[in-house]
Amino acid sequence: MPTRNNDVDWNTFQPRAYHAHNYRSVRPDDLQIVRATRDFFATANLPSHPARGLDVGAGANLYPAFAMMPLCEHVDLVEHSPANVRWLRSRQSRWRRFDHGWDEFWQLYAERDRYAAAMRGRRPLAEFRAKATVTQGSIFDLPQQRWDIGTMFFVACSLSADREEFDRAVRCFTRALRPDAPFATAFMTGSDGYDVDGVRFPAVPVDTVIVEQTLQPLATDVKVVPIDSEHPLRPNVGMVLALGHSRGASTKS
Ligand SMILES: C[S@@+](CC[C@H](N)C(=O)[O-])C[C@H]1O[C@@H](n2cnc3c(N)ncnc32)[C@H](O)[C@@H]1O
Repeated sequence: MPTRNNDVDWNTFQPRAYHAHNYRSVRPDDLQIVRATRDFFATANLPSHPARGLDVGAGANLYPAFAMMPLCEHVDLVEHSPANVRWLRSRQSRWRRFDHGWDEFWQLYAERDRYAAAMRGRRPLAEFRAKATVTQGSIFDLPQQRWDIGTMFFVACSLSADREEFDRAVRCFTRALRPDAPFATAFMTGSDGYDVDGVRFPAVPVDTVIVEQTLQPLATDVKVVPIDSEHPLRPNVGMVLALGHSRGASTKS
């Protein structure tokens, strides 16, 4: 039987080690992802009421939330692991000490006019403290059609080894968004699991075709962007970004 989401003790996920390995500086593959997400969101139609964003499975990565904060009145981070929830909240309570670590990512967003206007004079973690709420919860329990814009980076593919749970996670994410809400979602390709500080976590090996086929019934204008990397994060594992607009709630659970 493949390892399922509930089989894992997510409290053993070490956010400091994960952050140090992945987000101490901007990797070339993350640079492509940030730019493509930013350029897509910079032209997105958002509602006339103050927009609310969702980042699910945030882990120890703030750059997906940064993609939405300047465009939103509020951003919800929903994360399953208690250890990651503590880490995210500590960024909010002790932000002055950590602020510069995210500057490189933050500045990339400011390269677009729509972002720049909302970011002038604002610091990344001060904004994170002011606009974001971190909640412990599961992607599988998200309410439907609540958010106006969303991100889900390296989560559906990296929470289980069970393909059915991958499909369900993508469905739960897209249906949590209102109809026509823009989203960006990133996936590891070809991964059958990953280590964080010596602890093994499960993954479902997906590829661009699986990502596209999974999203097509759930979204419109789906664009799947393979991310090139001369130096992949792990051997034989790649990344893909998918952009689109949610169709809203689906009838399947
Ligand atoms: C590979 S990490 C990705 C973290 C981050 N989004 C990033 O871009 O690096 C997978 C994340 O999914 C979270 N996760 C696992 N099961 C989840 C669930 N049922 N609901 C929401 N998040 C979950 C983990 O705690 C972890 O933070």
